[in-house]
Amino acid sequence: MAAGARAPGSKPVRGRSIRASSRCMNATTDRRSPPCALVIFGASGDLTARKLLPALARLAGYGALPTEVTLVGVARTPMTDDEFADRCRRSVSGDGPPRWEDLTAAARYVSGDYDDPATYQRLSEVLAECDQRNGTAGNRVYYFATPPRLFGPIAVSLGKAGLSVPAGDSFIRAVIEKPFGWDETSARELYAELSSAFVEDQIFRIDHYLAKETVQNLLALRFANSIFEPIWNRTWVDNVQITVAETLGVGERGGFYETTGAMRDIVQNHVLQVLSLFLMEPPTSFHSEAIRDEKVKLLRAIRPLDEEAEIAANAVRGQYTRGGTREDLMPGYRDEPGVDPLSATETFVAMRLEVQNWRWTGVPVYVRTGKRLPARLTEVAMQFHRPPQLPLFPGTAEGLEPDALIVRVQPDEGLSLRFGAKVPGHAFRVQKASMDFSYESFEEQSPDAYERVILDALIGDPTLFIRADEVARSWRIVDPVMQYWAGGGRPIPLYQAATWGPSEADALIARDGRRWRHSA
Ligand code: BG6
Repeated sequence: MAAGARAPGSKPVRGRSIRASSRCMNATTDRRSPPCALVIFGASGDLTARKLLPALARLAGYGALPTEVTLVGVARTPMTDDEFADRCRRSVSGDGPPRWEDLTAAARYVSGDYDDPATYQRLSEVLAECDQRNGTAGNRVYYFATPPRLFGPIAVSLGKAGLSVPAGDSFIRAVIEKPFGWDETSARELYAELSSAFVEDQIFRIDHYLAKETVQNLLALRFANSIFEPIWNRTWVDNVQITVAETLGVGERGGFYETTGAMRDIVQNHVLQVLSLFLMEPPTSFHSEAIRDEKVKLLRAIRPLDEEAEIAANAVRGQYTRGGTREDLMPGYRDEPGVDPLSATETFVAMRLEVQNWRWTGVPVYVRTGKRLPARLTEVAMQFHRPPQLPLFPGTAEGLEPDALIVRVQPDEGLSLRFGAKVPGHAFRVQKASMDFSYESFEEQSPDAYERVILDALIGDPTLFIRADEVARSWRIVDPVMQYWAGGGRPIPLYQAATWGPSEADALIARDGRRWRHSA
């Protein structure tokens, strides 16, 4: 790490990073899938084309998918095996590695309605053929890449068709995309439907944020070092800020987003998962259950905002309107395709949460997410208490931001420690400087989040997947706020595209005498 001073108003001067040395292999080179049929429901859909197939092509390139792994697509669109193979190849730019060519050439496809028993009968026959011809050994991973309303019915149908119970030593797993339900009640209903076919150990609920390299680095940062632990508590930390900011609007996903909104799309899952990893107690081991136990304990320590007045004071929503520059004018949310022109769906959320446990009581956790904000940026920042005697540096240090440890999840993945340093010269002036670590300093490339979740599901490592109790507890935190907003009352606050959200969000944190790390 190296330090660099910063002139007021300028960007932080990043010091030269020390080349990180690592004896670890690339995470994927020493991990291989066992024999398995990977069945993708929603095989003709957008998620499959954009994320799953490119991730599979890369995994094939690393040698992580042996010849006993077979791809089986299921969807309503009629297609032959060859047409599906073609579609797979077209989803990947350029020539895939030789193993990808083999994998697609051997791919199978089943078309049919998801509620038609004949679809599952056909799937059962295809899977039996895969076991016989390709050696998939009765192992199956079902990847639910369909619209969420189909998750339950597909699971129930798999159960009825006898396709969810593993025989002998084989395994069967169900990988479920988010959102897992729309609130606590519907999440429990979905769980009941899934449970008619699968036991909890078979269910892998995805949150692709957990598979981001920098999010996993939170574990290394906290538990592979001894210097941070002593300051990781209310004695040293003044507040925590978690930001998930996107520059994009909802684009073509207006119809989906209308039923979701930023709270369900980002806060209930990505934000609360990152928050719980960052603030949880040290797990007793790195076993998946030990980590997930600590995460759920942390989520239980977050006090849900129950009273209306409390919600009004601690949760802010917003929706973007037309904005940007004359050259780059961005439409408002209500003008996006598929969006109700009178929509009250939130595209922005800011909240002040409290973690009520021995370590964090009294440390506010401010979370903020939004679409059409001025920067694409996800970070977790811990701001430390100010020094007790700022008057030692009269007139120079009062306006300084507090010292902070910032985990940059994306982009420019890395870590910064911000602190005050003397500006060279005769006057005693203090400015903020920064010690930076960048992931670019590693020779190894970070695997894409989807590569990791697919390989983990094939291998059977549930650490980066969300357990049922975590899901229920996360809904318990956001549900009262969603209900309060749905109840009407004040109209939704608006913010112009390419700004940092409505003024109410600034007021929320200003009330505590603090400000967002990024604001206008
Ligand atoms: C998804 C949300 O889970 O995460 C999207 O549904 C959002 O609305 C996306 O854009 C952000 O993911 P990433 O990896 O680009 O930060």
